[in-house]
Amino acid sequence: MIVLGIETSCDDTGVAIYDSDNGLLADCLYSQIDIHGKYGGVIPELASRDHIRKTLPLVREVIARAGIDANALDGVAYTAGPGLVGALLVGASVGRALAMGWNRPAIAVHHMEGHLLAPMLESRPPEFPFVALLVSGGHTQLVQVEGIGRYELLGESLDDAAGEAFDKVGKMLGLAYPGGPHVAKLAEQGRQGKFVFPRPMTNRPGLDFSFSGLKTFTRNVIAEQERADGSLDQQTRADIARAFEDAVVATLAIKCRRALEQTGLTSLIIAGGVSANVQLREVLEKTMLSQGGKLFYAQPRFCTDNGAMIAFAGCQRLLAGQQDDLEIKAMPRWSLETLPAI
Ligand code: KG4
Ligand code: ZN
Repeated sequence: MIVLGIETSCDDTGVAIYDSDNGLLADCLYSQIDIHGKYGGVIPELASRDHIRKTLPLVREVIARAGIDANALDGVAYTAGPGLVGALLVGASVGRALAMGWNRPAIAVHHMEGHLLAPMLESRPPEFPFVALLVSGGHTQLVQVEGIGRYELLGESLDDAAGEAFDKVGKMLGLAYPGGPHVAKLAEQGRQGKFVFPRPMTNRPGLDFSFSGLKTFTRNVIAEQERADGSLDQQTRADIARAFEDAVVATLAIKCRRALEQTGLTSLIIAGGVSANVQLREVLEKTMLSQGGKLFYAQPRFCTDNGAMIAFAGCQRLLAGQQDDLEIKAMPRWSLETLPAI
């Protein structure tokens, strides 16, 4: 089965074609970073308008790159949520309309299910069951995964998502949007242990997260250093970035270990933008090695938002006989746990 996937939930227009027999045929991505960068964050109306400009040209491009005719497509998958409602509506309208025009089924895909299944695009895919750590700009969740659509939420962030905290700390340090990759780069020059930041909610049982206090702690340390020295030198900025990244990574690793113990599972997958973080991958590799378990993640371009994960997830559901009706589905809030199993 050959499926076109469309992702427009936030600030990336991602379009891809996945073939259940031959894998990913083509994948195009247009990032809106240059549009939102000067505002320091995503401006929803600008995001929707740009998705309108980019989605159809990218659909044409991805079909050409795959070297197929549109007739060869067996279905269309589009991200229906969670995300920015205007942005979602663009991909949903285009996806639903194309499917109707081509007389093919359409399937509304959950963005976080797309992330969760992205490691399955790799040559060494994980096998069910596993624990999934979903870490993106909007979500931080630990999920017990028994199969596609069989998700039990074990814990989640009570306030800021991990990626959101990275982005806000990036802003405090004067880095470009989105801050995550820039904080990680700056942290490489930082000295470990120069500052020690708290590991929130790790000294009590449970699998929920909270990153808002850590963000405030970081802001206070920056203010203290500025009061003492007038301005932050490059080394101090790097030391702070390092302390922040170490705290986030250690917190995520402690909760992952706990989730594996609680469920008795031995496979862990990490997905979403923050799973591209090298430090997180290294620490979790060591954790899994010491526990005799296995860690899985997608290549960096499939950790952040992309069309391939939506084409893949949609293909699995269409193969199982699921499809959506003619309604254009856009759900800014949508719980993973409500998805049907296949
Ligand atoms: O999954 P994603 O592309 O979009 C959402 O669904 O939100 O995740 C984007 C988030 C941003 O907060 C970004 O700063 C963060 O992922 N991110 C990173 C890294 N690469 C992306 N955070 C830390 N380290 C990275 N290398
Ligand atoms: Zn995402």
